[in-house]
Amino acid sequence: MALFEWDDKIALGIPSIDRQHQVLFGWINSLSDAVSQGDVNEKVEEMIINLITYVDVHFSEEERMLLSCNYPGLAEHRREHDLFVSRVLDMQASFAAGHNIGEGVLNFLVEWLVDHIIGTDRRDMRFVSQEGQAGVIALQ
Ligand SMILES: [Fe+2]
Ligand SMILES: [Fe+2]
Repeated sequence: MALFEWDDKIALGIPSIDRQHQVLFGWINSLSDAVSQGDVNEKVEEMIINLITYVDVHFSEEERMLLSCNYPGLAEHRREHDLFVSRVLDMQASFAAGHNIGEGVLNFLVEWLVDHIIGTDRRDMRFVSQEGQAGVIALQ
């Protein structure tokens, strides 16, 4: 059973960013299933590899959008992204050292989803989409 259902209320109205957030939702749900079935090691390894690529693409895109509209909270937003990257690298090292980290990774991602995607992204990226719309209107 899915831990989180994607809901249009969570969507930010920026299609590429919403698609990337939906991908993360899917990964969290599949990790949650693996944790509840007690079959988590392979899933954790796959998740860490996926996350390393994901953060590179997703965080760069958000930061580029925030930069393009001179969003004053960019540095704070980027600090949260950087913290996430360093946590993922810590998890990678911990997994490589043979630790059983499935539940820890799941809890961390759920916390990220609530605090950052539904909190920080919602607050900051909404500003981007408003600026974007204003930009489009100004060009017409
Ligand atoms: Fe995001
Ligand atoms: Fe973000």
